[in-house]
Amino acid sequence: MSKVKTGIIGLGSMGTAHFNSIGHLNNGVVTAVCDIDPARLTFLRDRKDIQVFTEPERFFAEGDMDAVVVATPHYGHPPLGIKALQSGRHLLVEKPVGVHKKAVEPLLAEAAARPGQTSAIMFNQRTIPAHRKIKQLIDEGELGRITRVNWIISDWFRSQAYYNSGGWRATWAGEGGGVLLNQCPHQLDLMQWFFGMPVRILAMGTIGKYHDIEVEDELTALLEYPDGATGVFVASTGEAPGTNRLEITCDRGKLVFENGVIRFSRNEMLVSKFTAESELRFGVPDCWDVTIPAAGTNVMPHRDVLENFFNVIQHGGKLVAPLAEGIRSLELGNAMLLAALKKREVTLPLDGDEFETMLKELIAGSTYRKKGFDGKLNTDEFGSSF
Ligand SMILES: NC(=O)c1ccc[n+]([C@@H]2O[C@H](COP(=O)([O-])OP(=O)(O)OC[C@H]3O[C@@H](n4cnc5c(N)ncnc54)[C@H](O)[C@@H]3O)[C@@H](O)[C@H]2O)c1
Repeated sequence: MSKVKTGIIGLGSMGTAHFNSIGHLNNGVVTAVCDIDPARLTFLRDRKDIQVFTEPERFFAEGDMDAVVVATPHYGHPPLGIKALQSGRHLLVEKPVGVHKKAVEPLLAEAAARPGQTSAIMFNQRTIPAHRKIKQLIDEGELGRITRVNWIISDWFRSQAYYNSGGWRATWAGEGGGVLLNQCPHQLDLMQWFFGMPVRILAMGTIGKYHDIEVEDELTALLEYPDGATGVFVASTGEAPGTNRLEITCDRGKLVFENGVIRFSRNEMLVSKFTAESELRFGVPDCWDVTIPAAGTNVMPHRDVLENFFNVIQHGGKLVAPLAEGIRSLELGNAMLLAALKKREVTLPLDGDEFETMLKELIAGSTYRKKGFDGKLNTDEFGSSF
């Protein structure tokens, strides 16, 4: 099988992981890499088969590659993604697609104008079997009408050492956000993948509640969907032990996904039918509890997304996550942060100009200076970075 020649830009934690993942694949091969920090590239000193660049311009101009993986900090995703597309390459961008809605629109326009080039985003959690199963149950109507969703995702615990480990992390200018932008894009993407987009958001969030950082490390949002369904989304990097619990209340009963297990309390009769027809004043529908198997032993979600990306380039087919879908989770996160910091309701579609203005004000007003950053990548901690 031929392999898609791939360049990776940004060889930090994630770029290095992708480099290693691609080494295990039959349909892709790394032929070029680029990082502005030469120290990140020294491990490739003896690899004559890989072009090594420290200047992005030269990487795009001279790199022998058909596809580019962008794994730099988030602000770089849209401009580097555009360069990759304009140089004729296929594109896979790390999540989030960018820092804010307005900044990513030109990238999505560029991708839309080039349908012959494959454009994807690394939403690796879409490949987790339990997530696929929940999506299937919803799409096939097994749950009936969804009336309420509640996701507590507070098991993204991070120590201060984590935030100190990269100069760009947890600053408005360097990262552009906190738990909503770095850790939770996965759950925000799954929220929209499962339930679609809400129309109205209220939120409370706290800047540096648990850490010495200038961005949000805790947020609670209330969501309203077009059909009147409601949602609660809770995110934190300060709780240990944290929780990852998704509860979906629906006409057919209640689904709870926690500790990797999907439990479905299934009503014999739809709640709406029972409510309308039962003559019992205090009765409830008969219900039985089932554990829903989520088949598959997928333990390499990032690798699966890379393999799918190369497959689609070579043979066509369906991407795990098309790039264009990346804006939805970003818009959700932007709207939650705007609602929390402005202390008011935000309606969707989000006003991208308003969010950009707020972000610029946060950057201009920043007095935060990072402590304890020694400029070195702590590779020991990589395993817990996603
Ligand atoms: N999908 C996941 O599960 C997952 C997990 C972790 C990180 N990420 C994402 O990956 C991205 C990178 O995160 P990380 O933890 O690897 O960060 P990192 O700081 O470890 O690595 C970033 C690298 O990019 C390099 N870089 C910065 N600007 C550059 C430029 N213009 N050109 C070339 N290189 C440049 C830096 O020198 C650094 O080596 C982030 O957007 C993050 O959200 C995704």
